[in-house]
Amino acid sequence: MNSPETISTPLHALNSRRSTKFLRAPAPSPEEMAQILQAGMSAPDHGSLRPWRYAVIRGENIAKLADLALGAVKRSGDPRMTPEKEKSVREWMAAVPLFIAVAQKIDHGKIPEHEQMLATGASVMNILNAVHMMGYGAFWSTGVGTYVEEVQLALGFDPLDYRFLGYLAIGTPGCAVPPVQRPDFRDFVTEWTGPVA
Ligand SMILES: Cc1cc2nc3c(=O)[nH]c(=O)nc-3n(C[C@H](O)[C@H](O)[C@H](O)COP(=O)(O)O)c2cc1C
Repeated sequence: MNSPETISTPLHALNSRRSTKFLRAPAPSPEEMAQILQAGMSAPDHGSLRPWRYAVIRGENIAKLADLALGAVKRSGDPRMTPEKEKSVREWMAAVPLFIAVAQKIDHGKIPEHEQMLATGASVMNILNAVHMMGYGAFWSTGVGTYVEEVQLALGFDPLDYRFLGYLAIGTPGCAVPPVQRPDFRDFVTEWTGPVA
């Protein structure tokens, strides 16, 4: 587990974040969660639409979510949901102390919808970084029925009004998280000096 003390500078915090799938208790405290979720409010946001929506799921409600989502995925006929897969997803979810379901509230006004989704993604990134800075781990997943309408409706994200964007699993990493080598930015960045051919 990272401890906030090992994060020496804000840039080091950004550069050392890693997704951690396997998480256990404790989750961030309610006071820490308040700070983490507040960090999600400082995202760039064209038109000040505040399109991000979050549903926090913890404690016994995680088992309810697992029942709902796995049942819906099976009812949808997804052949990938084998008994083995179901068992492993249930075990994974049972260990995670807190989930946040993420959605974008769709505004049909003049701001393009993809910009609303980008604002929501930026808000989630702030949350992921805040979780990391507080010494916890997180993992963004669009598994477990994200694209199944029954799940979207049950979470309160009717696809007529919302785009459900998956779950953030949040907790304490189950084992030490070694640093990872990230790509060199030079492979992704060019300097534009004028019209391209
Ligand atoms: C919108 C979104 C959905 C994702 N869904 C999944 C998923 O369902 N399963 C998965 O293994 N990784 C998923 N990922 C990737 C992980 O969250 C994570 O980014 C990846 O394992 C790389 O780790 P890193 O964040 O440390 O680079 C998703 C990422 C994003 C942005």
